[in-house]
Amino acid sequence: MKVEGKDYRTVWMEGNTVCLIEQNLLPFEFKIFRSENYQQTCMVISTMIVRGAGAIGATAGYAMAQAFVESGNDPEYVENARKEIENTRPTAQNLFYAVERVYRAGKASIEHAIIEAQKIADEDADACKKIGELGNDLIKDGANIETHCNAGWLAFVDYGSALSPVYAAHRSGKQVFVYADETRPRGQGARLTAWELKNENVPHVIIPDNAGAHLMSQGKIDLMIVGSDRIAANGDVANKIGTLEKAIAAKYYDIPFYVAAPISTIDFDCASGKDIPIEQRHEDEVLYQSGPNTKGKLEQVLISSPGSEAVNPAFDVTPAELVTAIITDKGIFKPQELATIKS
Ligand code: MRU
Repeated sequence: MKVEGKDYRTVWMEGNTVCLIEQNLLPFEFKIFRSENYQQTCMVISTMIVRGAGAIGATAGYAMAQAFVESGNDPEYVENARKEIENTRPTAQNLFYAVERVYRAGKASIEHAIIEAQKIADEDADACKKIGELGNDLIKDGANIETHCNAGWLAFVDYGSALSPVYAAHRSGKQVFVYADETRPRGQGARLTAWELKNENVPHVIIPDNAGAHLMSQGKIDLMIVGSDRIAANGDVANKIGTLEKAIAAKYYDIPFYVAAPISTIDFDCASGKDIPIEQRHEDEVLYQSGPNTKGKLEQVLISSPGSEAVNPAFDVTPAELVTAIITDKGIFKPQELATIKS
């Protein structure tokens, strides 16, 4: 990805320092956060300085590598670190996938842990590039595409999942237009997807979350592409809260509903969506919103009735029957075909 003409990844490692684009500050400020140890990297994941399935996965892998480096070969230190990293966020499968791989590699040597973490990050970027190439075939010239949340470069190490086919289509000269759901409560669509699309010069508008069905009813949406945080073996898809109602509306209006995700997001040990843990986040994310004040400093403001409480489930599960196809780095599959690709 390019930001102001310079190449970046969402997360990378320099020595034992994990460097990340600080997503909580976007789109108002572009800043790199430097995390010096695994505990700090855990904080980075839980406070969503980094977020999005693949980016969380790569970061968690780097955190596990940091823990090996810091451990002085003390197995208890590594075990505790593993638990702490896995407790940062519960839903994204890539986090558990990456921690497991680096943990196993680190049993051989600290050097192996570092190499494995780097490999996971590289594989994530390569897989997302491939998703773009394959998904591009599903996008016709002139297509109007709705997406939910941010499954672009910022949600991965590079390229993105749902937005990767959009970028590939745009670069190949097709006219595409994106309707970006704002994605309450944290606004990943309004803040991050819109910022990415602007960087890539892709024509787009931000829409309120509750406008999707209306636009579909007016024939304004040709297809929907979303990402995923975890896909069960039966093809049920966990994604940002609000995805389920978009899928229901898309089915009603006969609009193709695609999910784009690398194979690493599929949890073959999860039989169905019922087994996917859904993260419950703090109510303040619903009750307050943040943005720059007149001096450009980020401030939080209360936007709800004082004293009312809120519930804040971060994800929902879309049943496989509502998903037209899943665009992966290994091909495009009907949800019920996933079982056949278990390696
Ligand atoms: O809570 P987040 O921002 O980490 O949520 C993850 C997401 O960005 C979305 O659910 C996304 O659509 C899938 S992750 C590529």
